[in-house]
Amino acid sequence: MSYCEINHLKYVELKDEVTVVDLRSDTVTKPSVSMRQAMLYAEVGDDVMGEDPTVKKLEKTAADLLGKEAAIFVTSGTMGNLISIMSHCNKRGSEIYVGEESHIVLHEQGGAAQIAGVTVCPLANNPDGTFNLEKLELKLRDIKNIHDPISRMIAVENTINGKVLPLQWIKEVVAFSKKHNLKLHMDGARLWNAVIASDIPVNELVNGFDSVSFCLSKGLGAPVGSMLCGSKEFIDNARRCRKVLGGGMRQVGVLAAAGLIALENRFRLCVDHDKADVLMRAINNIRSKILFVDPTTVQTNMIFVRVKESTNIDAKKFANRLAMIVDDDKDDQIIVRVYALWPEYLRIVTHLDITDGLLDAAIRKISYVIRKMDPATVGF
Ligand SMILES: Cc1ncc(COP(=O)(O)O)c(C=O)c1O
Repeated sequence: MSYCEINHLKYVELKDEVTVVDLRSDTVTKPSVSMRQAMLYAEVGDDVMGEDPTVKKLEKTAADLLGKEAAIFVTSGTMGNLISIMSHCNKRGSEIYVGEESHIVLHEQGGAAQIAGVTVCPLANNPDGTFNLEKLELKLRDIKNIHDPISRMIAVENTINGKVLPLQWIKEVVAFSKKHNLKLHMDGARLWNAVIASDIPVNELVNGFDSVSFCLSKGLGAPVGSMLCGSKEFIDNARRCRKVLGGGMRQVGVLAAAGLIALENRFRLCVDHDKADVLMRAINNIRSKILFVDPTTVQTNMIFVRVKESTNIDAKKFANRLAMIVDDDKDDQIIVRVYALWPEYLRIVTHLDITDGLLDAAIRKISYVIRKMDPATVGF
């Protein structure tokens, strides 16, 4: 017997024959056997003293792959973003520019303001995840005006909501940042998904950026950690910032060893992308007019199911129903866990631990629930 938490509300006891498919995030993956073996045998030292060989190897590997001078292993994507803000905005009264749908704006507790003392100017995101650089130019501050904060840094997110930023726009942001003497950071929590989906070499995607973070703990499957990459000077400063945040870790080679395996296996992310595509097509094959996916938005491992507001269904009700067993039908004997991020959108994320069998189970349950919630689909 096992237990399952449904949308943070309650724990329910599950019968052994019930299949649970966890599609809330690619962060739910468990370290593989090869990772656990690498962790067991990792050579370690005190990393705060710069003496952990496995961490050093991971940092060099990350920096080399991205074409940057140096890298630092940090505890999380949130810490990587915060350190880059602290490090680039080292003058009090600094301001950063970032898309309003980005993780930095929405999900990091306002750490830029709370901890770094930096103001955040959010910019409207276009449907493809970009923002308008002409509008940004109008927001930049006048350095000679003592009333103004100091314009200091731009941050972009790639992928953003599963979408890959267009390379042409990335190049424009790089040119814009140079023209206006602004630091440029990429929150590449899912950078490798962008690389694999676009088939653009990673060093090209991050060329011209002063700092880039990417997560080992998401689709790459490591249990913990992110990498922050940049110039040697930036990383030296980042090391100071990491320490004050309590992120200096000691014999952390045990985690870096898992990170190295995760990076070696990065090309497997295409499997997650293929699974997201299969799932999206299965949902759209039902031809519901109230529960469907815009296929152009499924570029990597994320699917946003649109839940039309005009009905009495919303994303939360849909998510709750997916996590329940109500009928005797065999397709209902499956629990699918997803996130209702907004009332009109439900997020589904494929990942390393989703086998073909689990994908099939998820498709059966999601299709069953859509047909139940949208009687107009009966017959398809
Ligand atoms: C785009 C993006 N940036 C940063 C983060 C933060 O990563 P962490 O959960 O490791 O702090 C996330 C986490 O989901 C994310 O999606």
